Amino acid sequence: MKILMVCLGNICRSPLAEGIMRSKLPDHFTVDSAGTIGKHAGEKPDHRSVKTAANYKLDISAQQSRPFTADDFEEFDLIYCMDRYNYRDVLAKARSVEHRNKVKLIMDELDSHKGKDVPDPYYGEMQHFDEVYRMLDQACAAAATRILNS
Ligand code: 4NP
Repeated sequence: MKILMVCLGNICRSPLAEGIMRSKLPDHFTVDSAGTIGKHAGEKPDHRSVKTAANYKLDISAQQSRPFTADDFEEFDLIYCMDRYNYRDVLAKARSVEHRNKVKLIMDELDSHKGKDVPDPYYGEMQHFDEVYRMLDQACAAAATRILNS
C-alpha cells in the first residue's frame, strides 16, 4: 500500500502529514508527499514544520519537496489532499475514474471535520503550525485505523 500526501508547496503541511502518517503505519507501507506547485522543488521542509514535528518527537528534516505529477496516480493507491484547492488541482491531472477514486481530502477522515481544509500556515506563526500538526495527527490516526482494518 502506497500513500501520498499533497499540499501546495510540499514544504509546510504535507511534509508534516507524511511524517505523521508514516509514524502510524507499519514499515511495509510507503508514505510520500508532493506539492501541486514545483516552486520549492528540492527544498527541505520549512524550518517551522521541522521544529513543530521535533516538538512531537518526529524527524522530518530529511524530506525534499517535489511536484505532484500525473504518474503519481499509477504509483500510489491513496492520495490525500490538505485542502480543496490541492484536491481540485490533483483531480485536474486525473486521466480515469480509477485515478479520481484515489483522491481524498485528509480531513474527511474525521466525521467531525468533513469538508474542512488543513489551513495553509505559510504566512502564519508557530501556533498555526502546531494547529496543523494537531489536526493532521487526529486525521492520520483515523486514516491509519481505517486502512489497517480494510
Ligand atoms: P504548503 O505551504 O502548501 O503547506 O507547503 C505553502 C508553501 C509555499 C507557498 C504557499 C504555501 N508559496 O506560496 O510559496
